[in-house]
Amino acid sequence: MFVQRIITKDYDEMSRRAADFVADKLRQNPELRLGLPTGNTPRGMYEQLVERYARGELDFSRVHTFNLDEYWGLEPDHPAAFARYIQNHFLRHVNVPSGQAHWPSGKGDAAENARTYEARIGSEGLDIIILGIGVNGHIGFNEPGAAFDARTGFVQLAERTRQDAFHPRSGFATREDVPIHGITMGIGTILEAKSILLLASGASKAKAIQRALEGPVTEEVPASALQRHGDVTVIVDEAAAARLADK
Ligand code: F6R
Repeated sequence: MFVQRIITKDYDEMSRRAADFVADKLRQNPELRLGLPTGNTPRGMYEQLVERYARGELDFSRVHTFNLDEYWGLEPDHPAAFARYIQNHFLRHVNVPSGQAHWPSGKGDAAENARTYEARIGSEGLDIIILGIGVNGHIGFNEPGAAFDARTGFVQLAERTRQDAFHPRSGFATREDVPIHGITMGIGTILEAKSILLLASGASKAKAIQRALEGPVTEEVPASALQRHGDVTVIVDEAAAARLADK
């Protein structure tokens, strides 16, 4: 594997460096096919990208975006839906044409939705996929035990993931409202991206980052699959890097 590790002072620097990474790739390839995560981790990166677009530094008009995952059972405009998150934090502020923004549908026939989404990703695949990481080592909604060759599909969320999903900015009114299932790009789908950018911030992620990068490659730690990829960039702040032996 080729892993470039960038350890930043704090969350803001992580966000700036992540935006630098995307901006560089976009300048090299204006037709970037970009996989996008939700959650707390990438908020600052999206803010940076939106600011740079507003200053006229970036052009997303030929970019295709692909959301990593979605809760099962939510309408795309539900306050907690990932489709809405990407819309609110990124798409509505930049010039990705609406027909070029893709997400897996969390309603209807799951197997059909998964097939449709894989077909959209298609043989061209993704140029970059950006990932956060769960405290249990999940990437997307690929929870411990997920097969490394899994394609986009319907999955059950780990209890820990459901707990972490309920917070003041989550868009869920109660803890019980957090869906039990999701639809996610599989680890197999993720590993086919040409390059992967993994982001993490804060002490709560330190153990997961250490296990992902330096632990055994095992389906018990979904992010350890990234060790099998040839082009991974990891941007983490000092708190998330705290347990790494090799800094
Ligand atoms: C989100 C996703 C998840 C998150 C992970 C970390 O689309 O796929 O894997 O990246 O749960 O979430 P935060 O960033 O909220 O700590």
